[in-house]
Amino acid sequence: MAIFIPEDKLAEIRHTADIVDIISERVVLKKAGKDYVGLCPFHSEKTPSFTVSQTKQIYHCFGCGAGGDVFSFLMKHEGISFAEAVDSLARRYGIDLPTRKMTPAQKTRLSERQRLFDINRQVMEFFQSRLADRTSGQTARAYLKKRGMRPDVIDAFSLGYAPDGWDALIHFLNKKQIPLSLAEKIGLIIPKENNGYYDRFRNRIMFPIFDVTRQVIGFGGRVMDDSKPKYLNSPETPLFNKSRSLYGVHAARDKCRETGMVYIVEGYFDVIALHQHGFCNAVATLGTSLTAEHVRLLKRGFAKKAVLVFDPDPAGIRAAHRAVSLFINEGVDAAVLVLTDGYDPDTYLFEFGAEAFERASAGALPMMTFLTESAIKTHGLSIEGKVRIISEMEEPLACIEDKVTRSIYVRDLSERLNVEESAVMERVQTAAARRKKTASEPFFEKQMASALSSEPMPSDAVRFEKRILSMMLGYPEILPEVEKSGALNYFSDPRLVRMANLILRHAQSGKGDLPELMNRMEEEEDRGIVASLAMNQESWDRKGCLGLLSQFVQSRTRRQDTLVAQIKAAEASHNHDLLVHLLKEKQQRAINRH
Ligand code: CTP
Ligand code: MN
Repeated sequence: MAIFIPEDKLAEIRHTADIVDIISERVVLKKAGKDYVGLCPFHSEKTPSFTVSQTKQIYHCFGCGAGGDVFSFLMKHEGISFAEAVDSLARRYGIDLPTRKMTPAQKTRLSERQRLFDINRQVMEFFQSRLADRTSGQTARAYLKKRGMRPDVIDAFSLGYAPDGWDALIHFLNKKQIPLSLAEKIGLIIPKENNGYYDRFRNRIMFPIFDVTRQVIGFGGRVMDDSKPKYLNSPETPLFNKSRSLYGVHAARDKCRETGMVYIVEGYFDVIALHQHGFCNAVATLGTSLTAEHVRLLKRGFAKKAVLVFDPDPAGIRAAHRAVSLFINEGVDAAVLVLTDGYDPDTYLFEFGAEAFERASAGALPMMTFLTESAIKTHGLSIEGKVRIISEMEEPLACIEDKVTRSIYVRDLSERLNVEESAVMERVQTAAARRKKTASEPFFEKQMASALSSEPMPSDAVRFEKRILSMMLGYPEILPEVEKSGALNYFSDPRLVRMANLILRHAQSGKGDLPELMNRMEEEEDRGIVASLAMNQESWDRKGCLGLLSQFVQSRTRRQDTLVAQIKAAEASHNHDLLVHLLKEKQQRAINRH
């Protein structure tokens, strides 16, 4: 895995990069005793079970079992390789990595992703230079000026211009000796039917799309007249996933943290206009609807409260309906801001100014209130109207998983409509049951599949073995005794045997520390298990350890003896089926031991 990154460099990075610093840039952490806790970024939860230990330099989630060191956190969180995680930390802390020592093959593999990011960055700079160019960029600059964009903001968002014609970018790529096949991979150019390529973005204002770490993951491009399509975006690529990315995150984060709030809008220009008017805490979806992943991204690194700015048209209201369940279930407070008919944040700000926007935003309605009020607006408060409103509201209410929260909203709605609370509740519960039924079918299949494919459920035996491992991690002085006792020979879980052996070898090589041990584990699941075992706060002493060891060995030899006795008995009674079964069991135990 890490063959070409020298151990001493890894150690240097590990000792410089504090896991608490790195994780708290991405997850809101609170101190809890010796450790830090927060909401797990890897699964959806409302009470924090994600724990980071500063002393051990590892993290572990008691909810989903994820765990590891600073490298594996970044790998999982950012979806990058080990080498990339090392590289990004090394860069950040100014530690030089001797990359020259890599073989060409390793270099290619390691850096393809980085290479793609580099290409995107160079292309972004090319578009910027075209915008700045006196002649080529003239129309585009005039367009941005007409839309009120200030030069500093154009700069902050690295806006550019993709020249007209079919091969302006291709020329640039060729000049820079950038392989066209790579440019195709990230959607910059499109293969022609016979051969060759043409530029995807032509004669458009270019909006580079950044991730939180300021890498360029894709582009959006707008025409400067009424031609169609108005916007063109990069397709989904290895770097660009629309349901996980939001436009503006790189510029919004600080202000989001400062204010505890994020504006979610629909367009590139809306984000930029908000920024220009001092509302830097704004992000936009990328021409797709909001997903749970978006909400989680915001929740873990940005803000606990969102203000959604939807158009007041039927499409906007439908979008608000869809968004409700996402926010409520992720525990993120959300409100809906509806601007004057026909305005989006961009046009609103330029026409009425920042103060007016601020006032409007103070009047944003909580999600459910917004849904109720817009339903009342459509259906009215006649008897038939109320019936329709309740039908419309039963689905979003049924989406609320937390029963208490749900009942509060049900009460609000029944009070607003002046109908019996229990009647509304009944409707909502029926809808919830319906949801559950449809949702549970695929889930059941998944469970079946995993039951068929994986090992038996964790039994007492495995629990005992895990406790031994936990002891080995918590009290390494005992390792020689563990080896002497032969306890590992009696382990029933092959994964745990493998891990225990790794712990022994790791200790023998004279490197005690836990994160380093984790780096030697190839499988993410192994790292998770080690993290969870190491988080155990039990304080071990020599006597306790020896006691546990001998207890374990005794219980296993007893089992072994029993097995041998059972086999003898089965032979004597000619119980063939039982005999085969027992022999298989014996064989299995022997295999596990090796
Ligand atoms: N969008 C898109 N493809 C389109 C139209 C829109 O991907 N053909 C996305 C873009 O991300 C755009 C957002 O949807 O920013 C909102 O679109 P729209 O409301 O039509 O445009 P505005 O953002 O208001 O753009 P402008 O102000 O430049 O007209
Ligand atoms: Mn607009």
